[in-house]
Amino acid sequence: MKKTILILFLWTNVIAVELPPLHHPVGISPPQKMQLPNEFELDKDGLLQCVTCHGIKDIADLPFDEVDVKANHFFNGGPYQQLTDFCYRCHKKKSAQRLNIHKMYNVGKIDKKNCDYCHLEAPEPNNPPEKLEFRLPKEKLCWGCHLKTPHLNALTHNRKVSAEMLKIIKISEQKHKVILPLGAENRVICITCHTAHEAGIIDSNFASGKQVRGGDVSKGVIYRSHAWDRVYQADKKERISKLNLNQNHKLSYQRLEQEVLLRLSAKNGILCRACHQFKD
Ligand code: HEC
Ligand code: HEC
Ligand code: HEC
Ligand code: HEC
Ligand code: HEC
Ligand code: HEC
Repeated sequence: MKKTILILFLWTNVIAVELPPLHHPVGISPPQKMQLPNEFELDKDGLLQCVTCHGIKDIADLPFDEVDVKANHFFNGGPYQQLTDFCYRCHKKKSAQRLNIHKMYNVGKIDKKNCDYCHLEAPEPNNPPEKLEFRLPKEKLCWGCHLKTPHLNALTHNRKVSAEMLKIIKISEQKHKVILPLGAENRVICITCHTAHEAGIIDSNFASGKQVRGGDVSKGVIYRSHAWDRVYQADKKERISKLNLNQNHKLSYQRLEQEVLLRLSAKNGILCRACHQFKD
């Protein structure tokens, strides 16, 4: 037994796995909904780094067994009476969480309560009525819970599509067997790109049920760092500094790791190309 531990230890040193087993993930960016305390500093790409959580500056360079886990500042802002008190500085307590209405399954069954936030009457997933009735015009369904500017390109996309683009959209809808519903005056709205429904609610044989699968709505969108960020930062430096963002919302070029509630994948550009034509 001792031998295995020793070998494992050497192995971790050699290939520089920097984290203890079962450790909290690092190098990921907090989802938009997560508000970190100001003293929990992210790295320059806006990602979790060792010192976001630990007050021991050189923790990454120390052998794990030399780290003083009892030190008050082992966890930033510590000591904490309970480990969970520390977790709740970033994660929301269940009781304080906003109800994620996109989580539409409750123990495997569709939770019809959630449908009422948008629909006047919960439609049968696989036998929808001729005409859907909503509580608000579809242009405004998402507002209130979400900002008009949930992300950079949302507002700049709230435009009328040209006749030429409209043709491309129709072709894309057929090609991908998907819907890209536009708002009044053929404007791009939230539900043009997003679906409100957790994958599986609407049968994937319906064009309205065609969406990116695999993501987990309770986790939301997850981004990872990308080497292009340095180029992006240099390029956008002036524009970004004018935006005056707080430190929790640093802008950076990141790779989409997990997509949710999208009709087509943006990760591989299919969503964008459903409307835009780029020259090769
Ligand atoms: C999101 C917060 C967070 C980040 C970021 C983080 N840690 Fe931790 N770390 C923890 C927590 C929580 C524990 C305690 C786990 C437990 O006791 O169950 C811990 C424990 C440790 C321990 C003690 C392990 C042990 O078993 O005694 C070491 C060493 C450590 N982390 C190193 C690092 C290093 C190195 C980094 C950066 C690569 C890092 N941590 C980033 C939260 C974090
Ligand atoms: C500095 C902020 C921070 C602290 C403190 C923190 N977390 Fe996290 N945690 C994150 C971020 C960011 C993510 C990734 C996004 C997400 O899944 O919400 C995450 C993800 C997770 C996940 C999902 C991991 C996965 O691979 O899917 C779990 C479970 C988790 N944290 C538990 C904890 C626990 C338990 C604690 C306390 C011991 C803790 N976290 C403390 C920021 C933090
Ligand atoms: C956040 C708003 C929102 C919520 C919550 C919501 N929907 Fe919808 N639903 C829409 C919108 C917008 C459309 C029309 C565009 C589309 O099909 O995606 C729609 C369309 C539908 C359709 C018609 C699909 C078709 O082929 O015409 C069905 C069926 C449906 N929803 C079922 C449900 C069920 C069941 C729930 C609850 C589990 C639910 N919806 C919750 C916004 C919502
Ligand atoms: C009743 C409130 C409510 C309404 C209405 C609503 N949402 Fe949400 N949505 C949430 C909550 C809560 C989450 C979980 C993340 C959070 O807390 O911000 C979420 C998450 C999301 C996410 C994933 C973000 C992430 O990373 O977690 C997307 C995308 C999204 N909503 C799009 C929409 C769109 C598009 C509409 C309109 C059709 C809509 N939502 C309507 C409450 C709502
Ligand atoms: C042109 C397409 C497009 C439009 C229009 C659009 N989004 Fe998004 N949205 C995306 C993409 C792409 C992502 C990132 C990937 C994902 O959602 O999985 C995203 C992410 C999000 C997220 C998660 C943000 C994050 O970074 O964690 C929310 C919330 C959201 N959108 C809400 C909205 C709302 C509300 C509207 C309307 C005001 C809207 N979106 C309009 C394409 C769009
Ligand atoms: C439903 C159609 C549609 C989709 C999908 C779409 N766009 Fe657009 N996009 C538009 C429209 C409409 C405009 C407004 C200007 C125009 O007509 O070209 C626009 C404008 C833009 C602009 C210029 C914005 C500005 O600041 O003026 C960029 C950049 C852009 N889109 C990138 C993207 C990317 C990247 C994606 C994929 C994540 C995407 N678009 C998905 C329709 C779309």
